[in-house]
Amino acid sequence: MAKIIAGVGSSHVPAIGAALDNGKTEEPYWKRVFSGFEKSKQWMAETKPDVAIVVYNDHASAFSVDLIPTFALGCAAEFPPADEGWGPRPVPVVKGHPALAAHIAQSVILDEFDLTIVNKMEVDHGLTVPMNLLFGQPKDEWPCPVIPLAVNVVMYPPPTGHRCFMLGKAIRKAVESYPEDLKVVIFGTGGLSHQISGPRAGLINSKWDKNFLDNLSKDPKKLTRIPHIDYMREAGAEGIEMVMWLIMRGALEDKVDEVYRFYTVPASNTAVGHIILENRRKAAAGKAKRAVAGKTRHKQAAARKSTQRKVSKGTR
Ligand code: DHB
Ligand code: FE
Repeated sequence: MAKIIAGVGSSHVPAIGAALDNGKTEEPYWKRVFSGFEKSKQWMAETKPDVAIVVYNDHASAFSVDLIPTFALGCAAEFPPADEGWGPRPVPVVKGHPALAAHIAQSVILDEFDLTIVNKMEVDHGLTVPMNLLFGQPKDEWPCPVIPLAVNVVMYPPPTGHRCFMLGKAIRKAVESYPEDLKVVIFGTGGLSHQISGPRAGLINSKWDKNFLDNLSKDPKKLTRIPHIDYMREAGAEGIEMVMWLIMRGALEDKVDEVYRFYTVPASNTAVGHIILENRRKAAAGKAKRAVAGKTRHKQAAARKSTQRKVSKGTR
């Protein structure tokens, strides 16, 4: 059985990609940002997922404003980096996992989440920057296949936080009904607070961001009740990207272990937030054991009852 073992939240600022691609990671401004991901890269190298599901948003790269799907699942065999105006980023082509993606599409759509199935798509900084932050800068290929899930957060109305959270739960159910043993990590990306245009450009709200991260860890249901207007007011127009983190969180167990967190301000116009949440392996193993023990007890009780029935029939 496939299993989601952990969730990763990460911002996706395009200038982080430019700093990586242009060899600026050692400059003090950027070192402050990248140093926060050193432990995460180590965690990822040790965790070695078989597949990553990356929840991200496209910035009018694959989908122009002519067509904006609310939730679009990448079912293709590969996803080339998009040209965002400076040529495609020099990162490996992202390889997909068409079999698991098709299974997720079937399970989730039959669960009444109307995903758009995408069989050809380029991916922009929304996906490739978090990949770099967690997997480093591989030259030829990324260490695991990736299933992109693009979410509309660029044109009103985006999906609600609650809908995102519930989609996460449906994704978890889908993954757990896939027969092959696969370790899956799910990413929620974008945010945290930022606004890149208008009179409030440059807005950052660290208090809001930190509260969001605290609740993401301990009380995610509270976050599902936040209306769009609060994200916009408190975290800036682009702060709405944070709803994508709720898909990742919905795909995890209710109680998780926060194994790492990082927060720094700013990178370009954005507050960079990052978190790693693990499903509780011990609790899960204990639960499975209790379930097996429960079944055995149930079987034994049923056997006792059937013997008793036979005995009482015999004595009648
Ligand atoms: C910036 C952040 C984003 O999320 C984005 O998509 C584009 C730019 C920024 O901070 O510059
Ligand atoms: Fe963005």
